[in-house]
Amino acid sequence: MTELNPLRHIPEANVFRKGDVFVLFGELFGRGYVNGLIDEARAAGMTIVGITVGRRDDSGALRALTTEEHAEAEEKLGGRIINVPLMAGFDMDAPAGEQNPTEMLSGITLKSWQEDKLDWEKIERCREAGVRRFTESAAEVMAQIDKLVPEGANVFFAHTMAGGIPRIKAFLAIANRIYKGRGERFMSSRALLDSDLGKLILMNFDEVSANTLKYLIDASAPIRERVTKAGGEVRYTAYGYHGTEILIGGEYQWQTYTNYTQGYAKMRLESIAEAAWKSGVTATVFNCPEIRTNSSDIFVGVELSLFPLLTALKKEGGGAWAEQQWQICQDLLGEGTSLQSLLDTIEQYNQDATSAQFRNFEAWPMDNTPALAEVMIGTSEAITNLHKDKKALITDHLSSLVLEGAGPLMFHGASEKIAPVLWLNHDIIARQLNALHP
Ligand SMILES: NC(=O)c1ccc[n+]([C@@H]2O[C@H](COP(=O)([O-])OP(=O)(O)OC[C@H]3O[C@@H](n4cnc5c(N)ncnc54)[C@H](O)[C@@H]3O)[C@@H](O)[C@H]2O)c1
Repeated sequence: MTELNPLRHIPEANVFRKGDVFVLFGELFGRGYVNGLIDEARAAGMTIVGITVGRRDDSGALRALTTEEHAEAEEKLGGRIINVPLMAGFDMDAPAGEQNPTEMLSGITLKSWQEDKLDWEKIERCREAGVRRFTESAAEVMAQIDKLVPEGANVFFAHTMAGGIPRIKAFLAIANRIYKGRGERFMSSRALLDSDLGKLILMNFDEVSANTLKYLIDASAPIRERVTKAGGEVRYTAYGYHGTEILIGGEYQWQTYTNYTQGYAKMRLESIAEAAWKSGVTATVFNCPEIRTNSSDIFVGVELSLFPLLTALKKEGGGAWAEQQWQICQDLLGEGTSLQSLLDTIEQYNQDATSAQFRNFEAWPMDNTPALAEVMIGTSEAITNLHKDKKALITDHLSSLVLEGAGPLMFHGASEKIAPVLWLNHDIIARQLNALHP
């Protein structure tokens, strides 16, 4: 179990400059966390290099990007993309002639999934096939990236991969209930984790969200050795999640989104960074606050913890700029709703005995309960309904602020070599944002 280790100062160290190379290990999406880091790399004049996870053709086979897709992705990134598919996970992998896990599970139904059994020897062979495919491709990608790193340059590897929900129709319905269901549609996350289907999914999360950091560190060893031999420096960062301290009752208190089934993989990610650190590799997992992105939108209620950031901006010395953020958020609300009343609702939600019970760091990641689903999803829906336009939410604005603040904290925090696992809580995010907007 990692000890809660919050970053309490704004790091200012900087290793990186023009001509150094920033490698993004994952794809870039408009609202994704890594935009914050890329802005820093760009401002420092670094050369940006990316990868692709590839695409699946109609038969499910993994392919590289087409010329058009490749050009579009490079334009979006503002850098070269190595076009060798690096899709992680093994849900679509199998030894030649055997079924892959998605095929093995194609027959499950909403009625049968808790009893359906998997052949674990076959699954293990699929996992091995997936790992082999990924690590071989990663070695090929790194050999190409090596050629893009000039002698004497420093390199920043930013890991952003997370995911692994298999594309099984019945599972999408189950996931919808587990993460979004309340009342009659509630489904227990424990029932999922106790089923063979759940065990397979956790293995796939481990592969995508955690083990890929290890594969990245291993595959980039030749680059790391060459760079350090020439006196250069190499850093690795990854995005973790392990709850966040936010303002509750006027104090920063640790809280978490529940149920975060991916939490087991995130703890594995932390242990990979810890092991790398011990062996002299500077890899830091930054446990980041909840924000709304393409990946997190499935978790209804994950956004509730964002609102108290507004209060943190003021508590951490925010002036006119912080006031302006309040105004921007107020303007997104419908006629007659004050931002303060919304913040009061969030405070009440956090003070509610049902939600307070989940603020148990040692027991993380806890299972969901019908009572929690009721209050969390209920509050989430009620708050969304207070907006003028459900497509322009306060949490969109606050998410973009959090990733803006996380960018420099991670960029300079990695330079400073602080620790393998750090939490970015609302206090430091707010202080960093206020410092960026004096
Ligand atoms: N959104 C949040 O609230 C939050 C909070 C803390 C940490 N994080 C972490 O931040 C990181 C970025 O996530 P985000 O929320 O910005 O969303 P995002 O959707 O922008 O990023 C997800 C990333 O995962 C990659 N990915 C997805 N499936 C993959 C697969 N099978 N193989 C390889 N790569 C795959 C995507 O290419 C993308 O780079 C993730 O590690 C996520 O867990 C997110």
